[in-house]
Amino acid sequence: MTAEPILSVEGFSKQFELHEQGKIIPSSSNVNFDVYAGKLTALIGPTGAGKSSVLKGIFRTYLPSSGRIIYHAVNGHTLDLVQADDYQILDLRRQEIGFVTQFLHALPRQATEDVVAQPLFQRGVNRDQARQKARELLEQLNIPERLWSVPPATFSGGEKQRVNLARGLIAKPRLLLLDEPTASLDPATTDRVVEMIQAMKIEGTAMLAIFHHPDLVERLADNVVTLTPPLALDNKEVA
Ligand SMILES: Nc1ncnc2c1ncn2[C@@H]1O[C@H](COP(=O)(O)OP(=O)(O)O)[C@@H](O)[C@H]1O
Ligand SMILES: [Mg+2]
Repeated sequence: MTAEPILSVEGFSKQFELHEQGKIIPSSSNVNFDVYAGKLTALIGPTGAGKSSVLKGIFRTYLPSSGRIIYHAVNGHTLDLVQADDYQILDLRRQEIGFVTQFLHALPRQATEDVVAQPLFQRGVNRDQARQKARELLEQLNIPERLWSVPPATFSGGEKQRVNLARGLIAKPRLLLLDEPTASLDPATTDRVVEMIQAMKIEGTAMLAIFHHPDLVERLADNVVTLTPPLALDNKEVA
């Protein structure tokens, strides 16, 4: 492949220091891969291998312990997401990098259609247009219309996951991070999500995804990166 990657993860490691217990929990260790426009890179490996930690490191929910995360922005600039300041990170989250997390985090009393439209509101899109787009996505993901105007707090796991997906897809980020986005979806909705991801690939979105089902890796991944869990022997006491 001759194209330049949008994202290069180099020597990424993450460990958690639990100061109260005096323990270090190793998570991801020396992870290396590239992500390209219009391609999907899948992270695979058993539970605890550090897959979610890699995504959270890229989105800067966690600060990596070591390594570089080189991002080629739309303006042609290159920056290391490990070193970037918080304003740069917030700007990239608003404009270029999306994250569909495993669990939906929403403001308590916000209507579902506004939860989904939020990324467009943040970009300054007209409210009515943003809500219209949100409703289209909710419909495509089979969320019944009676639920659009109520907050998602009491929704089932599968409904919350669909709201989370709609919010992640609505702004068409350049780089989309997906953490088990279909884990609690029925087969028909999963197929719909597969179609949406394929359409985004054709539009040039770069994706980095963790899938619960190996079948989805088979259907969607262009590159596969395997993570291995750190050895129990690596558990160190903090000096
Ligand atoms: N905030 C945290 N504090 C302490 N340990 C964590 C934290 N987040 C993840 N871990 C630990 O890091 C390891 C990797 O977790 P994770 O990245 O969620 O793995 P995966 O997504 O592959 O299942 C696990 O041992 C997990 O318990
Ligand atoms: Mg995980």
